[in-house]
Amino acid sequence: MDKKILKIGHRGAMGHEPENTLRSFKKALALNVDAIELDVYVCKTGELVVIHDDKIDRTTNGTGYTEDKTFTELRQLDAGKGELIPTLEEVLDLVDKRVIVNIELKGRNTAVATYQIIDKYIKNHGWNELDFMVSSFDHPELNKFKHLCPQIPIGALLEGIPLTYAECAVQLNAQSINLSIDFVNQDFVNDAHDKGLKVYVYTVNDSDDIAKIKNLNVDGIFGNFPERL
Ligand code: G3P
Ligand code: CA
Repeated sequence: MDKKILKIGHRGAMGHEPENTLRSFKKALALNVDAIELDVYVCKTGELVVIHDDKIDRTTNGTGYTEDKTFTELRQLDAGKGELIPTLEEVLDLVDKRVIVNIELKGRNTAVATYQIIDKYIKNHGWNELDFMVSSFDHPELNKFKHLCPQIPIGALLEGIPLTYAECAVQLNAQSINLSIDFVNQDFVNDAHDKGLKVYVYTVNDSDDIAKIKNLNVDGIFGNFPERL
């Protein structure tokens, strides 16, 4: 039997709907993903909001830095097709344990706020540790999260290949390395597997690329068009 490769809806299904909105996550669920990926920041008033950029300019009708806005200010914006910038809790309520939620710690100081919400959903809403995956390019922040919440799988995000290959993920006690399509190769995948790590590759949208990446024996693929995975 072929190995199961995790289908991960990137920012929901951003090829179809405005990224990181409830509408995008609903679409990803309708397309039968195994997991959804989203990005989080802590805004000025402390709420954890789901948005990709440090500025709100590209994805909303507002301007300025995400972290400088109050929650009330952010909620007045249109994040595309009339959608609001969601909170992490709204996304978790929507998903309701149907698929894994990959939370990427994108903003500064997001580990504690993310931990508090995950802890609440595990204690009060029947979620399991394995319903989550937390990842980040900010490895010190990811390390902070892992110490707060050791049972949650973490993924070390990489944009390129370090001299020591997948070693940084071992140091972080991560379950996976999440690597850019621009750099993944067979040697790297083999090294990660030898170290007991999964390899998830972002962001793969072209059908030829999807076939090529699957041939590397990776464990999961992030895509804007999850139906192609
Ligand atoms: O987590 C995979 C991918 O989302 C990382 O890059 O820039 O799309 O957040 P980016
Ligand atoms: Ca992301």
